[in-house]
Amino acid sequence: MKKMEYQFRLAELFPEEISIVTTELVPVGCPALQALGAKVVRERVSEILDTMGRASAEAQALSSVITNADRMRNGEPDQKLYMFCDFASNKAVGLLKIGKKKLFLFDGTGTQHEMFPSCIMDFYIHESRQRQGAGKYLFEHMLRDEAIPVEHFAIDRPSDKFIYFLRRHYSLTKIMPQVNNFVVFDGFFRDRADYKGKKARWGGLDQGTPDKARAGDPRGHTTQLEDSLDYNNEPLIHLRNGGQLPPNYTQRRHNSTIGDILQPPPHQAQRNGNASNHWSHNM
Ligand SMILES: CC(C)(COP(=O)(O)OP(=O)(O)OC[C@H]1O[C@@H](n2cnc3c(N)ncnc32)[C@H](O)[C@@H]1OP(=O)(O)O)[C@@H](O)C(=O)NCCC(=O)NCCS
Repeated sequence: MKKMEYQFRLAELFPEEISIVTTELVPVGCPALQALGAKVVRERVSEILDTMGRASAEAQALSSVITNADRMRNGEPDQKLYMFCDFASNKAVGLLKIGKKKLFLFDGTGTQHEMFPSCIMDFYIHESRQRQGAGKYLFEHMLRDEAIPVEHFAIDRPSDKFIYFLRRHYSLTKIMPQVNNFVVFDGFFRDRADYKGKKARWGGLDQGTPDKARAGDPRGHTTQLEDSLDYNNEPLIHLRNGGQLPPNYTQRRHNSTIGDILQPPPHQAQRNGNASNHWSHNM
């Protein structure tokens, strides 16, 4: 069983059952900051983040950890982690990490947009508490706190469980495939206060960032790809469990459903495997 108990009292570190940890690794409103000192608070928070982050990566069968103290401290400056604790049992129940990223994203017409949306970077509920509403409770808290509609988030390679979660609780089913590892749903581009619509047509990897390519900037190519690790020549859907879209998916990419993604027909799955070198382009 993965660890969720600690030698110290969680209530000394976190002011609420759901509290925010920023890149400083000191929970906002930490009750015992004066008494313990910042160094001890950081050490304890680091232990929790390292343990929970490892558990999250294991739960998603990821080869590398997405959340730990080091990544939190040295990641994007506006990263924010919501930590969910059960003070009665002194257990850490789950975490939800968000942050903003520069992304190049396709809308439903195949037009590419340069944006800086809020993203879901990691989400984990301890195995002993899964499927009991804890995830919904944590996620709802974050949505209220951020005041951002769920469909306006981009999600860094969601797991299949998270895809089911979003369908179950928020009726999100229609995915717009992208060239990076992020998933956005129908409604992502609708009614956004933070984006007025700088658009460019996708011209393939060799074209680079449309603006830079036009200006003859040789770095345009890499700039376009800086938002994620793995890129492809065509828009695809990337799931954390290694799932990818069948090659012919692009022909019907604007009416994708979860059923299509999670259960590709056997002959398509076969073809996908054979064509993996063509469709997966590691930079
Ligand atoms: C995804 C996760 C955070 C959801 O938290 P949770 O507390 O289980 O979610 P809730 O209890 O609020 O909601 C339950 C819904 O989530 C989805 N879900 C959760 N676990 C699931 C599972 N094992 N299989 C399929 N769907 C699952 C279902 O839609 C479920 O509704 P249902 O029980 O009616 O089918 C949690 O399951 C988890 O930590 N999974 C492992 C890590 C992970 O995949 N994280 C997502 C990273 S992108």
